[in-house]
Parts: sequence; structure tokens; C-alpha cells
Amino acid sequence: MDRPKIIIGRANLELGNKIAEYIGVKPVYRVLKNFADGEIRFQIKDNIRGDDVFIIQSTFPPSENIVELLLMIDAAKRASARRITVVIPYYGYARQDRKDQPRVPISAKLISNLITTAGADRLLTLDLHSPQIQGFFDILSDHLSSDGVFKWYLEGERIIPPKDERDRRYLVASPDVGGVKRIEDFSESLSVGIAVVYKRRTKPNQSEAIDLIGDVTGATVIIKDDIIDTGGTLAKAAELLMKKGAKEVHACCTHPLLSSKKVDDVMVSATEIIDKSPIQSLIVTDTIPITEEKSSPKIKIVSIAHLFAAAINNIHLEKSVSVLFQDHPMLHL
Ligand code: R5P
Repeated sequence: MDRPKIIIGRANLELGNKIAEYIGVKPVYRVLKNFADGEIRFQIKDNIRGDDVFIIQSTFPPSENIVELLLMIDAAKRASARRITVVIPYYGYARQDRKDQPRVPISAKLISNLITTAGADRLLTLDLHSPQIQGFFDILSDHLSSDGVFKWYLEGERIIPPKDERDRRYLVASPDVGGVKRIEDFSESLSVGIAVVYKRRTKPNQSEAIDLIGDVTGATVIIKDDIIDTGGTLAKAAELLMKKGAKEVHACCTHPLLSSKKVDDVMVSATEIIDKSPIQSLIVTDTIPITEEKSSPKIKIVSIAHLFAAAINNIHLEKSVSVLFQDHPMLHL
């Protein structure tokens, strides 16, 4: 029986290799290098004619990795792949998904156009900044959720106790009004209530947590967000939750960008902000690799490799992908 062919880009080699290992295939042999001026050079060394090809690439940092992804799609198409699925664990440029000010681009749409034009047939991704970005793609898409992986971690570490011991002292919170939909399913799967922080963005990468909807007195609160960039949103939300009487605050954040920004002429990293914040633990996935200098004892990494592996297997075998949301994806491998 034919197997899926996996091509791994350079954005996250560790995750790509783990996914291939869970599926039980050797990644396609390819050459990925740069010319002296930085231009990317790519060649597929194995025959993929007529194959079901999956190209794995997170688009972080965005620019270089998006171009690398486009070149990989183009090469696979010209090598006569039967079907090309782009597997984008973290889809960069997704935040600019609407024209909320005059004379700005809608980058999420532009990148989807580029991917489609390059020749992709399908998209497989995880926790998009907003689920409606799927509609920007004129190709089929499967949108995975990290909820199951985070639930498994929170229960395993006893941050959330067994179901019969859960009560109003456990809550899931969104750090902004835009994330309410994101926490609805999560809170339901954990059988806990919700709280919402009202955040105002003063300028890009700078925000203020203004007020809180919900009573968090004495509660263990889990903030859920899609990305942590400079860390300001999470830190400010946690401070407000503690001020309003929460007992402890943890955060689950799918994509750990963990960038640095200048504050009063000094570079401050997201990791430093999280370390100084009242957040007890920040749980992230491995869609983006965390370098040594970005790591901290507070930051825990849970892998989503098995989830992607199971989804790739099911897409390849024309089986349901939504079954993966019902139980642990490991059971489907
Ligand atoms: C906002 O809409 C996003 O979901 C994140 O909350 C935000 O982008 C995180 O950015 P930062 O860590 O820089 O506050």
C-alpha cells in the first residue's frame, strides 16, 4: 500500500521528523540550502511522481519560511506529485486578517493566495488566529485544535483535578474579547466556567487589560490564547486576574513566538515578562522551536506531533479528521 510522502522544511526540523517518525515513514530526501546572497535553493532527490505529498513548514519567522514553503510546493508540483497538502503547524501573517484601518493589507489572505497559486491542493493547520481564515483558502482545509493536548497536560499535572472534584474554583479565561470563541470549546471539554478580560490595544504589540467579565475570586484560572508574541497580553491579563482575587493563574498558548521588544531603549524578551508575571506556568506546543535563550522553568512544552501525524494518516487514507478531536490522537496511530 502506498504511504504518504513527507517533505520537511527548515522552520521546525524537530517537529517534522517527529511527525514522520509517528507515521512510520522516512522523510523525502531533499536538498535545502542558500545561495551566497541568501536566495533559497531546493531540490527533491526522491521520486514523488503520482504520490500523496505532505509538506511540513511552520511559517515562523514568517518571511524566509513562507518563501521556502512556496518553493517546496512549486518543486513538488513540477515533480508530478498527485496531491500536495501543506502542513502549517503555525500559520504566520494571520493576525492581519481584516482591514481594520485605512490603507492596510490583509496579509492572511495574501499568503493564502500565494500558497494556492504555488500549487497546494489542501491545507492542514492548527489553531489559526481566527477560524474564518480557512475561508481565505480556495482549497480544502483541515483545522486542528490543541484543546485535547492541553487538557491532557492540565489533567496529567493535576493543575485541573479529576472531573468530580472540579467546581467553580476552576475557570478558563480569554485574555481578550476576540478570544471568547476560542475558550468556549476548551471550557466545555474541561467542564469548567469562563472569564473574559477586556483588553485594549494602545498600539501594535502594546496592550492594557482594562476590566474583567466573571468572578474569579479564589479560582485557579487557565488563560487560553493562540499566540504569545511579546508576552504583554498574557502578563497583563494575569495581573488583572490576580488583582481580582484569583488564587493562581496558568496559561496555555499554542504558538510560542516569544519575541523581544524595546522598552525604554532596553530589549525585553517575552520570557522575561512571563518570568516576572504572576503566571505560574505557561504551557505551549512545539509548533515553533524554543531556543535555549527563550526557555524558562515556567515554560512547559507539549508536543502536537502525534496530532499532526494522525491527521496526515487519516487524510491519506481518506478517513475522518474530526474523530481526532474526540479522543487522544495517539489512539489513531
Ligand atoms: C491577539 O489577538 C492574539 O490572540 C494574542 O493575544 C496577541 O497577539 C499576543 O501578543 P503579545 O504577546 O505581544 O501581547
